Amino acid sequence: MKNTSKRHYPRHLELQGCPVDFRLMTEADAPALTTFIDALPVHDLLFVRRNLSHPKVLAAWLAALDKQVTSLVAVAEGQLVGCTAVVVDARSWSPHVGELRVLVAPAWRGRGLGRVLIKECFNLAVSLGLEKLTVQMTVDQSAAIQVFEELGFRPEAVLRNHVKDTDGRTYDLALLSLQVSELGTRAAEDGMSSALNQ
Ligand SMILES: CC(C)(COP(=O)(O)OP(=O)(O)OC[C@H]1O[C@@H](n2cnc3c(N)ncnc32)[C@H](O)[C@@H]1OP(=O)(O)O)[C@@H](O)C(=O)NCCC(=O)NCCS
Repeated sequence: MKNTSKRHYPRHLELQGCPVDFRLMTEADAPALTTFIDALPVHDLLFVRRNLSHPKVLAAWLAALDKQVTSLVAVAEGQLVGCTAVVVDARSWSPHVGELRVLVAPAWRGRGLGRVLIKECFNLAVSLGLEKLTVQMTVDQSAAIQVFEELGFRPEAVLRNHVKDTDGRTYDLALLSLQVSELGTRAAEDGMSSALNQ
């Protein structure tokens, strides 16, 4: 998947007085990404199909950049503090659907970075010509589910006992989705129009 994003990076934002830079992820981010993933609680990784704490899974993510995956990183004070992925399988029967993944460093949560990253992914979805976005997370991630619902995602399914952590405990996985065509309307409603048009 060629990245046809019309949105230009890097971008810069102040979040609660702290400067944050947003740019497209590249393979050179491997060391910073490894440090970032290693510092996350394992439970935060259960929403991704494959275990990101495995170096080969991380390597496959980086190798897929500009093909099936478009990813952003957020950098503050020289540290990677958040990242995203919009995953599209162009050879599947759902080339119009992007799977969204967002991760924020625990120390940075609750400052609005997650919302900014999700909205950046909306812009990427529009420029990639996607029609639908899906996101999945364990049902106990209620703050995350609330953030996605606030931004227009709607629950579509619950997959019972679908993921298993390293201790063998299973969790239900919630699948939420959003029609990209609804973004224009929602953007006007919640002040995202400027973000979508930049
Ligand atoms: C979901 C996630 C990306 C949100 O990131 P974030 O930067 O905390 O997002 P925001 O600051 O924009 O919103 C956070 C909301 O979570 C809650 N929150 C507040 N402080 C929090 C904290 N310290 N930790 C977690 N959630 C918090 C609040 O409900 C907040 O909403 P509010 O601003 O209305 O109070 C982040 O929690 C995360 O990385 N989770 C683990 C991975 C995951 O589940 N990703 C979603 C599936 S792709």
